[in-house]
Amino acid sequence: MSRILVTGGAGYVGSTAVALLVERGYEVVVFDDLSMGHADAVDPRATFVEGSLLDPDALRNALAGCEAVIHFAGKSLVGESVEKPDLYHHVNVDGTQNLLDAMAIHGIDRIVFSSSAATYGQPVDDPITEESLAAPTNPYGASKLAIDKMISASGISAISLRYFNVAGAYESSNGWLAERHNPETHLIPLVLRATEANPLKIFGTDWDTKDGTCIRDYVHVVDLIEAHILALGALKPHVHEIVNLGSGGGYSVREVISVATKVLGRAVPAVESPRRAGDPGTLVASIVKAKSLLGWQPTRDLETMISDTVKSQDR
Ligand SMILES: NC(=O)c1ccc[n+]([C@@H]2O[C@H](COP(=O)([O-])OP(=O)(O)OC[C@H]3O[C@@H](n4cnc5c(N)ncnc54)[C@H](O)[C@@H]3O)[C@@H](O)[C@H]2O)c1
Repeated sequence: MSRILVTGGAGYVGSTAVALLVERGYEVVVFDDLSMGHADAVDPRATFVEGSLLDPDALRNALAGCEAVIHFAGKSLVGESVEKPDLYHHVNVDGTQNLLDAMAIHGIDRIVFSSSAATYGQPVDDPITEESLAAPTNPYGASKLAIDKMISASGISAISLRYFNVAGAYESSNGWLAERHNPETHLIPLVLRATEANPLKIFGTDWDTKDGTCIRDYVHVVDLIEAHILALGALKPHVHEIVNLGSGGGYSVREVISVATKVLGRAVPAVESPRRAGDPGTLVASIVKAKSLLGWQPTRDLETMISDTVKSQDR
């Protein structure tokens, strides 16, 4: 079975990919600088190389013998990207250029890349398709769009997967793999950790949505990784496809709170706050292309995403 380099394989999404890949018989090399990831999240059946995208020699060495790359590594905090745009460009864009250069040295021409819904910026379509205008509103989204363009220009076989909101957890044979971001900015972990002393802030209750709160599209991390494995098999020579990954529907912040309340069996303390600058009201993916190109269909609903996250925290 193929040997795959997984960059960012110590992070939330990447570590789940590594576990599922080794469980399917792939040989996996993880490349991660542990700036945000956790060494104990790396499946012990994978080879772990601690190294940075900013170190071309380390990348070249790690790629030896690999046939394809799944590229998760990078910086992904929107707020931090606004404060440090040069850092985001350097790590994400220059780092990915280093990766593409190292792949070229080895003649490796197959990559699946973690792009993001942040490439679209303020949505003009609902749902958002891959043809929708890509006009990022922050340096994080701009770095992902720049990488997508760089990959297109490289002429290699590639699929950029534009994730909407990833959630849930996976119980691998070595234990639960879950979000352990610091700082945590994702809604579901924040909902679960809300207390009377530190209630969840609901940013805006006057949006043009069914209950006035923002609507986002959530996809379970296991469904998301299934799409990556399908994408590896769908790569075509010299073709770069962009594919959205979400559920194709959305949940409002109040709906997330309501499902979490049911799963937890207790109330989720929350306070209403003003809108955050730059937040769109609704962000929902069209997943028509993911279905047709990859044969992918997400199967895990919001309740499963929340209950798996809770189980991973009770471990
Ligand atoms: N989680 C989401 O909801 C979401 C949504 C859209 C896109 N994405 C993208 O998916 C990817 C994975 O997201 P995640 O939530 O698992 O993030 P994460 O921060 O948990 O994982 C990223 C990993 O990359 C590593 N890394 C960072 N800089 C590196 C460098 N210079 N060299 C080597 N390794 C480096 C970190 O140590 C970390 O383990 C990211 O590229 C992110 O932008 C995530």
